[in-house]
Amino acid sequence: MKGVLLAGGTGSRLYPLTRITNKHLLPIYDRPMVEWAIEALVSASITDLMLVTGGTHAGEFLRLLGNGHEFGIDRLSYGYQDRPGGIAEALGLAERFADGEPTLVMLADNVVERTIKPMVDAFTAEPTGARILLTPVEEPAHLRHLGVPEIDDAGRVVRILEKPEDPPSSYGVTGIYCYSPDVFDIIKTLEPSGRGELEITDVNNHYVGEGRMRYDVLEGFWGDAGESIDAYYTVNDFVRAYGANKA
Ligand code: G1P
Repeated sequence: MKGVLLAGGTGSRLYPLTRITNKHLLPIYDRPMVEWAIEALVSASITDLMLVTGGTHAGEFLRLLGNGHEFGIDRLSYGYQDRPGGIAEALGLAERFADGEPTLVMLADNVVERTIKPMVDAFTAEPTGARILLTPVEEPAHLRHLGVPEIDDAGRVVRILEKPEDPPSSYGVTGIYCYSPDVFDIIKTLEPSGRGELEITDVNNHYVGEGRMRYDVLEGFWGDAGESIDAYYTVNDFVRAYGANKA
């Protein structure tokens, strides 16, 4: 399985910290944020990686990561998104890198307490359609900042709502996704959303509609350090106290 790390975006929710650097280079405890996502993939034995970024600080990733070997990466490719066109558009840049293989996609501002290996193993065993990772979230105010699945009585995802006013369940969709190679054909059919971006939730709903979406529920802490300044510090405090990516 190949790995795509998405580390673009303007980081507007963390202004003014992100005026002078890319969000994913800000510190989480003792290292730049992106290194936690790299560790999540490498510790799940995904070592053929592509990092997609954009904006005016893209060169800093090369300076930080180089060829990736120091971080356990076997081969590190880079992609550049030349406008803020959304998560799905950024993923579309990885089509030739994926080269017909199943791909794990991770938003590089997501931090997990426990290893993502169970999800990776499940998708490796059955690499069709898509697989998302859900996290229990109690507070409706928090769910309104996330993708939220509607789940029927049989435990199937019926649809995913992006940042819903009225969250249909108590689960958030994390930024960790497994896709079969047809994801790139789906991306080509997407229309920009109201905010002018190609949405990853539209990709996921495509698989839901075809009955080709599965999910796992993550154990332990999950945080999106780019969600807000408060979320950034929640993730920092957690990682400092308890670490991340544990077996
Ligand atoms: C994105 C996705 C959202 C998901 C979140 C997880 O939101 O669109 O569905 O719940 O990542 O980090 P964004 O952080 O771009 O607002």
